[in-house]
Amino acid sequence: MLLDALHCRNKKRPPIWLMRQAGRYLPEYRALREGRTLLDMFHDPKTIVEVTKLPLDILQVDAAILFSDILTVFDGLGIRYDFQEGVGPVVQDSPDRIEMQDPHVAYVNVIEAIEQLKEELEVPLLGFAGAPFTVASYLIEGGSSRDLKKTKQWLFRDPEGFTKLLDQITVATIEYLNCQVRAGVDAIQLFDSWANALSIYEFRTYCLEPMRKIMKAVDHPTLLFCRGSSLFAPELAKLQPAAISVDWSGDLLAIRDQIPRSIALQGNLDPMLLYASKEKIAEGADRLLFGMKDDPGFIFNLGHGLLPDIPVENVKFLVDHVRRS
Ligand code: CP3
Repeated sequence: MLLDALHCRNKKRPPIWLMRQAGRYLPEYRALREGRTLLDMFHDPKTIVEVTKLPLDILQVDAAILFSDILTVFDGLGIRYDFQEGVGPVVQDSPDRIEMQDPHVAYVNVIEAIEQLKEELEVPLLGFAGAPFTVASYLIEGGSSRDLKKTKQWLFRDPEGFTKLLDQITVATIEYLNCQVRAGVDAIQLFDSWANALSIYEFRTYCLEPMRKIMKAVDHPTLLFCRGSSLFAPELAKLQPAAISVDWSGDLLAIRDQIPRSIALQGNLDPMLLYASKEKIAEGADRLLFGMKDDPGFIFNLGHGLLPDIPVENVKFLVDHVRRS
């Protein structure tokens, strides 16, 4: 069903999966996480397989997304990183420490997990990577930053140096994604989560161009997500991806009119609506379901990831509601 929708030929109800469907809002995830570091979990094939499958059993979603992180590409760039409790991602090395690694060694755990998942799953498996601009921003800022000041200072002051860094990340990302594709993922999603920090002019140069290079070198159905995709959707459409994953700001129906019918649209419920009553959740979901009714290229999703304290009951309710539509 998801693959049909990705090819804009789905004749049934829209498929649904949710960004961050494998995460802390699930008590089962928190139990598996107890006493372990995230880095340890992302590097253990058995854990990757187990956590990837968790939301399938619990929610009955129509696709699995690999349990990994956009930072794992640093394994192929020789950059050390960690996730700190209450802080989030922390990158220990600076950009001048990049040392390209053999991808088959760097990503061996992910490759092994995908191979095993493909033997066990009954729904499509999505692989993913961060888009180079967003990955670069973690490398430059060292962790979380709200305005990406250092990244933007660099790109405005030294566009050539910044482009060189993006090129290095792009090469590693292509290798990482091709490892995932060869191991068997059915489609891939690129996350340019911080694209909304840029104006449309810089977006074209520093987000779109690296994504274009990746799509050229990785020949596989690709979904493109950015925070900012409701504004940048026509730009993203120029790359002719299989799908655009739309953030929660925009009106999906209006965006549909700006985008060729050959490109699927995924989105775009505001994840925070899942804190509201079931009645309100149904109302928000119905607005999307009615608006996109009979669209053969509609994939139901959120406009950004699930948050750790969203009630799991409400997430289950949403998925049931869409499955019954
Ligand atoms: O969607 C899924 O369920 C698949 C797994 C997945 C994770 N991260 C696991 C994870 C995916 C697709 C990501 C992508 C990711 N990671 C993005 C792009 C999507 C987005 O949200 O914009 C970004 C920017 C990151 C970077 C990252 N990783 C942050 C900012 C954090 C800390 C914030 C947070 O939510 O805790 C992480 C850690 C992380 N990656 C967790 C998970 C499940 C939290 C796990 C935990 O603390 O146990």
